[in-house]
Formats: sequence, C-alpha cells, structure tokens
Amino acid sequence: MTTAVIGATGRVGSEIVRGLLARGETVTALVRDPDKARRAFGEPEGLRVRSTRLDDPRELAEALDGIRAVFIAMGSIGTEGVIQLVAINAAAHAPSIEQVTRLSVLNASAGSLGINQRAHHSIDDFASSTGVPYSTIRPAIFSASMLAGAREMRISRTWTGLADRGRTALIDHRDVAEAGVRVLLDPALWNAHYDLTGPVAMSWPEALELLSAELGEQVRFKVANDRQFLDGLIGAGVPAGTAELLMAREWAILAGENDYTTETFQQLTGTPARPLQEFLHEHRAQFAG
Ligand SMILES: NC(=O)c1ccc[n+]([C@@H]2O[C@H](COP(=O)([O-])OP(=O)(O)OC[C@H]3O[C@@H](n4cnc5c(N)ncnc54)[C@H](OP(=O)(O)O)[C@@H]3O)[C@@H](O)[C@H]2O)c1
Repeated sequence: MTTAVIGATGRVGSEIVRGLLARGETVTALVRDPDKARRAFGEPEGLRVRSTRLDDPRELAEALDGIRAVFIAMGSIGTEGVIQLVAINAAAHAPSIEQVTRLSVLNASAGSLGINQRAHHSIDDFASSTGVPYSTIRPAIFSASMLAGAREMRISRTWTGLADRGRTALIDHRDVAEAGVRVLLDPALWNAHYDLTGPVAMSWPEALELLSAELGEQVRFKVANDRQFLDGLIGAGVPAGTAELLMAREWAILAGENDYTTETFQQLTGTPARPLQEFLHEHRAQFAG
C-alpha cells in the first residue's frame, strides 16, 4: 500500500516517512521543496518525492490518484490551516483514498482556551462535512517545544513564560509519529481519535528542574506578564499569529487543560512513551551552550 505524506519534511511528517519506509512500505512525499526532502531522506527504495503545490486542488487530485492512505502533518492556522482543508477536500474526492490520518492536538475542541485546539477542531468539523474516512492523532505539547527556549537558556539560564504552574505531559515527537504509523498501517485502528501524552505531567518549572539536573546547572523559569511575553516573542521575530497561539497555549496550561496522562501510546505500540529526560539528554548541547 502506498501512503502519501503531506508535511513530509516537517518534524513529525519526516518521522512518519522514516517509520513507514523502515517497515518496507512505499511512500509518496508531497512536498514544496524536493531538495529539502532529498537532504532529509536521501534516495531510499520505496520513497517517491513529488513536488506538489499543496494549495492547488488539481495538482493534489493528480498526486492522490491511486493512493490508499494519507497522513497530514502541518500547522493548524494561517496558510497551513488552509492547505489542510484543501488536502482533506481533495482526499474526500479521490476514489482510491480509504483513510486520512491527521496530526491534531490534545484537547482539540471548540471550548479550549488554546487557539491551536480550536483551529484543529474546526478542521475536524470540515473533514466530517466532507465525509472523508478520517482519524486523528492528538498529542500533548512536544518535548521539542523546549528547544524554542534554548537560546535564552544558553545565554541567561532562564526560560521566560506565563505558565509557572499547570502541568502538561510532554511527549516526544518521535513517539507521536510512531503512533501515527501504527494507525496508518492497521485498518482496525482507522476512523478514531487518539489522545497521546508523555508519561508524566509536569509544570514548566518542573521540566526545567530535569534540564538543570541534565546540565548540572540551574535553569530557572522566569514568569512574565502578558505584555512582556508578547513583546519578547515579537522581538524574537515570531509572527504575530504564532505569538498569539503561544500565549493561548500558556493560558490553557494555567487553566489545567493539559493536566492528565493517557495510556494510548502504550496501547497502540506496546511500549512506554519516552520520558522527557531522554529528549533533554539527546539535545543537551543545544541547551548547554
Ligand atoms: N509543537 C507542539 O508542541 C505540538 C503539540 C501537539 C500538536 N502539534 C501539532 O503539530 C502540527 C505541526 O507539526 P510539526 O511540528 O511536525 O510541523 P512542522 O515541523 O512545522 O512541519 C510543517 C510542514 O508543513 C510544510 N508547510 C508549511 N507551510 C507550507 C506551505 N505553505 N506549502 C507547503 N508546505 C508547507 C512544511 O514544509 P517545509 O518543510 O518545506 O517547510 C513542513 O513539511 C501542528 O498542527 C500542531 O498543532 C504540535
């Protein structure tokens, strides 16, 4: 069975491609930048890299012809959100497609404080309106999110944010992809939603205690007010829409929306989810400076 991956050169999408290839599956990566795909994957057997304008329904229809399953891993807002709708619509009209599996987010719902959660919920609603056979992977915040603070941590041994309390069970994005691959390859798992968390819920200050232990040096959480946090993000070149999304993420954490764990990863894969310590150890150099 050939699986098409949209967002194939991204953080999760690239791991989905690798996971499928490692199982001997054939993959068509629909990408805007084939050179980036070649740098990421080389030219392995089983992979076809197809340069595709993802906002063009005709190109997508051609690319999906004969494809049985699609994985979509992209952002939920702005252009990426629109591309997701175009891709879902194209898949809904492609006779060969039996399943669209999409990377969503934990707590995707209309009532979440999180902009990302509401945007993913709206994409789910759209998918439902098309009648496309559909499943989602809904992960907690990625461990890799801490890399966004790596520069500040290297310079000042602080990480500035709003949420000095409220816990989240951070999940490794490789585990997210592994769960996605399991769902893609087992039709018995299709047409359902999978809420994925890491093994332990913790606050940002508690996560920084683990990083401090890894580095052998104290890294402190620095609490900002909304204005300071927003100015910091914009000053660092974060686009306004993403800054708004990151602020709303902090508010959702403070409200306790993420304060739980699920067994879903273990149930899907038979193995425990990676602890945060593993990610921090592997990326130590980026935090240490
Ligand atoms: N970060 C978290 O903590 C977290 C937690 C839970 C859920 N999520 C969800 O995960 C998703 C993001 O996944 P990710 O981190 O794997 O994403 P990512 O690394 O940012 O990858 C996004 C992909 O979309 C492609 N893309 C972006 N704009 C495009 C455009 N205009 N035309 C064509 N391709 C375009 C990128 O292509 P290029 O490679 O060419 O740039 C890339 O392949 C979001 O929906 C988010 O809600 C994130």
